[in-house]
This record gives sequence, structure tokens and C-alpha cells, in this order.
Amino acid sequence: MNGIIRKASINDADAMAELDRICFTLPWSRQAFLHELSNEAAFYIVTATAGKIIGYAGMWSIIDEGHITNLAVHPEHRKMGLGEMMLSEMIRISGEDGILKHTLEVRASNEPAIGLYKKMGFKISGIRKEYYSDNMEDALILWRE
Ligand SMILES: CC(C)(COP(=O)(O)OP(=O)(O)OC[C@H]1O[C@@H](n2cnc3c(N)ncnc32)[C@H](O)[C@@H]1OP(=O)(O)O)[C@@H](O)C(=O)NCCC(=O)NCCS
Repeated sequence: MNGIIRKASINDADAMAELDRICFTLPWSRQAFLHELSNEAAFYIVTATAGKIIGYAGMWSIIDEGHITNLAVHPEHRKMGLGEMMLSEMIRISGEDGILKHTLEVRASNEPAIGLYKKMGFKISGIRKEYYSDNMEDALILWRE
């Protein structure tokens, strides 16, 4: 993987929103990213290569739990270990602050993401029925302890 992982800043909001539009059916707006990137309880990292953002991951710290908000890799850069690297980095960084439990929600049909999370030690602990408003798909709730 050619690229550097670094902490995201407010200046990355446009590029992150653009990447979200490519990666998700319900992307976050630039405004949502600006809000996230100025939230003190949130932490975002991006991967940049040749000045272009090709991936990002985010987490909220809630007492001793890390809530992974999102993870995305540009389609041209998938299956090269980047998603795993960013998730590992989030877990490592939050672990330094004593956060050893992590949770997230994922669409029940999202096999690449579920594959990645299981590889990283996450386990399915529940279901939120019809959680996603675009197609009423269920969300799986995953935890890693
Ligand atoms: C999910 C996502 C972030 C994975 O990123 P990635 O950089 O391609 O993943 P990696 O190359 O690090 O893969 C790590 C592991 O994930 C799993 N995985 C990745 N892609 C997969 C696929 N298409 N099918 C099944 N498992 C897959 C594998 O276990 C893989 O390990 P392996 O290479 O040893 O087999 C990427 O597919 C993506 O951005 N998807 C769209 C956005 C999204 O759905 N985000 C998750 C929201 S909850």
C-alpha cells in the first residue's frame, strides 16, 4: 500500500465527503464531516496518496468504549490491506487511551466489511431490524473485546 495514514483535519472534509459519495448509498454531507471533525469525542484518520484521500476511518470515544462510526476505502484501492490497516490503527490509538472495547454497525449484506471485522476479532452480538432507511436493511451490531 502506497500512502500515509494521518489524523484527519477540518481541511479534509471536502475530500472525505467526496469519497463517501463514491463508497456509500447514504453518504455523509460535507457539513456532517465538518461537524464530526470538530467533535472532541470523535477521532478520524485518513490515508492519502499523491495528495489524494483514498480512505478514512472514524471513531467516537464513549467512556471506555470505541464506537467505530465509519470506514471506507476508494474502490480502486480495495483488497490491498488498507481497510485492515486503518481499523488496526484506530484500535491501537484508542487502546493507548484505555479503550479496549470497540463496537460498530454494519449492513447485513456487506460481506467485505463483515469479512474484515471478523478477521479483526469482531463478533456479531445483535441485530437492529430495518435500520437503514434506503432499503430497510437490517444492521448487525458487532463488538470486539
Ligand atoms: C469494507 C472495506 C473498508 C474493506 O477495505 P479493504 O481495504 O478493501 O479491505 P482489506 O484489503 O484491508 O481486507 C482485509 C480483510 O477484509 C476482508 N475482505 C475485504 N474485502 C473483502 C471482500 N470483497 N469479500 C470478503 N471479504 C473481504 C478479508 O477478510 C480481508 O482479509 P484478506 O485480504 O486476508 O482476505 C471496503 O470494502 C469499503 O470501503 N467498502 C465500502 C464502504 C463500506 O462498506 N464500509 C464499511 C461500513 S460499516
